[in-house]
Amino acid sequence: MGLFENRGRLLVVRKKDDVPPFAGKWLLPAALVAEEESAEEALERHSFRDLDVQTGAVEFSETLYLEDEAHGQRYVANVFSVTGYERDLRLRAASDYDDARWLTSDELTGIAMPEVLREWLQSGRHKPDQPAPVPIVTGATAPDNRTAWNAISRAYQDRYQIPSDSILWGPRCPSESELQLLGDVSGLRAIVIGCGGGQDCIALVKQGAQVIGIDLSDKQIEYGRRLADREGVQVTLLQGNAEHLKEIEDESQDLAVSAHALNYVERADRAFAEVFRVLRPGSSFVFSVAHPFDACLEGGPPFGVVKGYWETQQDWQWEFPERSATGKFRSWYRSVSAWFSLLTDAGFAVERILEPPPVEAGESPWDGSYNKEKTKLVPTTLIVKAKKP
Ligand SMILES: C[S@@+](CC[C@H](N)C(=O)[O-])C[C@H]1O[C@@H](n2cnc3c(N)ncnc32)[C@H](O)[C@@H]1O
Repeated sequence: MGLFENRGRLLVVRKKDDVPPFAGKWLLPAALVAEEESAEEALERHSFRDLDVQTGAVEFSETLYLEDEAHGQRYVANVFSVTGYERDLRLRAASDYDDARWLTSDELTGIAMPEVLREWLQSGRHKPDQPAPVPIVTGATAPDNRTAWNAISRAYQDRYQIPSDSILWGPRCPSESELQLLGDVSGLRAIVIGCGGGQDCIALVKQGAQVIGIDLSDKQIEYGRRLADREGVQVTLLQGNAEHLKEIEDESQDLAVSAHALNYVERADRAFAEVFRVLRPGSSFVFSVAHPFDACLEGGPPFGVVKGYWETQQDWQWEFPERSATGKFRSWYRSVSAWFSLLTDAGFAVERILEPPPVEAGESPWDGSYNKEKTKLVPTTLIVKAKKP
């Protein structure tokens, strides 16, 4: 597909009613790539044949997955931004199209166009302004997650500005008010494992819970204490390791929560045994982690495979150029069944497993770091609710 732009307008073309695929639909000028032809060559050939224009420079922009609903066929569309072309485009009579227009983004609403394409043209094509984490090879020196979180804490908090009025389970995840996993927390003693900058703890306090947050990173804990002070909220934030909740007494908690922290914990078996120990019988443990499938694919198109599903351990790097901060992390991405077994081995009964499809962008602070098309292919987050019998 070729993306032709002119003064804030995009060139869209309507396929003739008798020319599949996408007959009768509005598209970007698009050619099926022939054998032994590159996508760029196909676009050049097509632009000349149908639009009487010689394309100059083109730049790869996005891969979209489009379905021609009339035939149930799926197409992989590589979109190229055409940066050099002659201005006078015209439809040739032999063209596959019967109409061509320069439309603004708003004018795309309401025309018969594949929804994925419309969504991308209207919002998705503005690339995330924050670079996504990238896998790295660290060799002999294992990254130290405490050092890494200390190194990026300030930049992470500055960039994401995580709100403290409700629990956030993950990027493009439905909200807690929609999922209702925790129920009424007022009067409960709750522990948050890997509490980061304390936002989830503060949210629970605002709903009437008495909260302890534990985090490996001293800097994250310091940030959380300052935030709680600013918000006038009473919360106990302790530096510590989820694998050993040494300051917490047996059966002293009514609820345990963790949001996107347990991937950083090497011995999840120990962490789960500890959570089990500190919970009162009948209490819930609700946590989210990066979905193990999300971790297998590259952050951007063409979403190539970066690791196998059963390869648990991965080292990666997170850059915050705006604050010259970098962290090298080691994560453990366990399969869905491994999370399940770890919980049952620790004595928990698993009540719910959620793999939510994405909600609209803009609802969680991390959305800008996640490619929207990727979130439509695989869930960002796995959420589990378990109970101590
Ligand atoms: C992505 S944050 C989660 C907090 C919050 N939900 C958020 O998204 O900002 C991950 C947190 O887990 C903490 N963490 C990593 N390993 C840990 C461990 N072994 N024990 C406790 N906390 C840990 C990190 O220090 C970091 O603050």
